[in-house]
Amino acid sequence: DWTMGAYREEAIRKIREQVGGGKVICGLSGGVDSSVAAVLIHEAIGDQLTCVFVDHGLLRQGEAEQVVGMFRDTYNIPLIHADESDLFLTALEGVSDPEVKRKTIGRLFVEVFEKHAKSVGGAQFLAQGTLYPDVIESVSFSGGPSVTIKSHHNVGGLPEKMGMKLVEPLRELFKDEVRALGRELGLPPAFIGRHPFPGPGLAIRCPGAITRDKLDILRQADAVFIDQIRRHGLYDEIWQAFVALLPVRTVGVMGDGRTYDYACALRAVTSVDGMTADYYPFSHDFLGETATRIINEVRGINRVTYDITSKPPGTIEWE
Ligand code: XMP
Repeated sequence: DWTMGAYREEAIRKIREQVGGGKVICGLSGGVDSSVAAVLIHEAIGDQLTCVFVDHGLLRQGEAEQVVGMFRDTYNIPLIHADESDLFLTALEGVSDPEVKRKTIGRLFVEVFEKHAKSVGGAQFLAQGTLYPDVIESVSFSGGPSVTIKSHHNVGGLPEKMGMKLVEPLRELFKDEVRALGRELGLPPAFIGRHPFPGPGLAIRCPGAITRDKLDILRQADAVFIDQIRRHGLYDEIWQAFVALLPVRTVGVMGDGRTYDYACALRAVTSVDGMTADYYPFSHDFLGETATRIINEVRGINRVTYDITSKPPGTIEWE
């Protein structure tokens, strides 16, 4: 792709110009955006870059292993795997408001990044995979007055407090362009095709207060749903798919016993850039089979619903 080839060269030039001989840390989430940003910056400045993968205890099943494995084994990019789940989950105890969750998580990310900026010998720059839609969604909505719908913590705010300068080489790109750039940089196709995953992770897929038990249940149900989608060859047709664990328990019957367990909602949407979205039209067979599998395989869930709200008026995430 000649366009992305040119973009790559230009981006590398700008990164070198901005950073000079300085040190950069890059928050790696395992998503396509931060991964593409990391590989691009590494190409520009080599080992002046250190990636920090923060495990906040709100990741999906197997996610930390996958991401750390890929960056250490395939890319040889210096990587710190910061297991901070206790820090995050303790701070989130009893927090049910979505914006308080985001702000708490954002504040702790700052703390963890500050710690590691020091630990690599004083990094002056923080790199993020911020995209164009992140920039505009956090500022205005539908061209109307400035209203913050959701305060994505990877947009603004962080570096002023931290005294670090931002390096955001993807700030002008939409998602499909980031994927094209990722292909240009030679990232594996399976990785480039990964669904987006929000910085606050499972915290915003567990409406209401979060507990470790709920997170365990949510992780298992989510893994079954994604497995179903892959088995049916639907993964690449879908923009994002996940389970939200609802803060409500319902009565069910299993064998000859009564159950009183959580309800969950399946969410799957198609989208081009995340700013608008349509719910995915699964067949009833697929939905039925998925519900049966989740209820049989996941202890703690006895009811499965499918969310058929598009965006707008819904948002993709439940919080
Ligand atoms: P919504 O739910 O606003 O999501 O329709 C649009 C896209 O943004 C992701 N999202 C987030 N990403 N921090 C992030 O890094 C956040 O706080 C956040 N909230 C939503 C969401 O997964 C979807 O791709």
